[in-house]
Amino acid sequence: MDRFVRNFIIISIFYLGVSSVLGVCMLANPSLLSLKFVHSHLNLLGWVSMMIYGVGYHVLPRFSGRPLKYPKMGEVQFWAANIGLIGMLLFSAMDAFSAVPAYKTLSVAFGALEVFSIGLFFYNMLATLLPKTAA
Ligand code: HEM
Ligand code: HEM
Repeated sequence: MDRFVRNFIIISIFYLGVSSVLGVCMLANPSLLSLKFVHSHLNLLGWVSMMIYGVGYHVLPRFSGRPLKYPKMGEVQFWAANIGLIGMLLFSAMDAFSAVPAYKTLSVAFGALEVFSIGLFFYNMLATLLPKTAA
């Protein structure tokens, strides 16, 4: 198993743990409901998407009988997806509690990095799965 595949799976489980604790805190203290975006996206981009990236990188090329086309791009995607997610959620949380305009701008910038990481996964998967196998 590639290192970035393992890392995706391990960190996705970590995000599940953190977001579930935040979910219980939101249940206990409704003033924390302003962090709903942080909770939902820690789950949906952190837990769900990163688990899918990890399993997808490992399993989908094997289904098609071809190695992953750009493993280094997978490594870059791991870092872009995690830095993008943490930056987006950190600045969104800071924006929720104090209306400094730079927080929103930074949250959007890290969100754009997250979208870029999704683009890398999309490109790498299509480059791996689409070419026809040689006869
Ligand atoms: C112990 C685990 C969890 C707890 C205690 C929890 C708790 C909560 C709470 C209190 C809210 C706010 C609901 C409201 O608006 O009043 C919420 C929203 C949400 N949670 Fe969780 N959650 C947990 C796990 C998860 C998981 C595993 C996922 C996804 C895989 C998830 C996805 C969401 C989403 C998408 C929302 C936003 C829903 C909306 O806007 O209506 N949660 N959760
Ligand atoms: C870079 C990627 C993404 C960005 C920048 C993004 C951004 C947003 C924003 C700004 C909202 C509105 C939040 C609010 O009303 O306060 C939202 C809501 C939502 N998004 Fe995303 N999203 C992304 C990816 C995803 C993915 C991959 C999923 C599902 C797998 C998802 C599921 C949802 C859901 C269920 C809601 C409604 C719950 C909530 O209000 O938190 N999003 N998203």
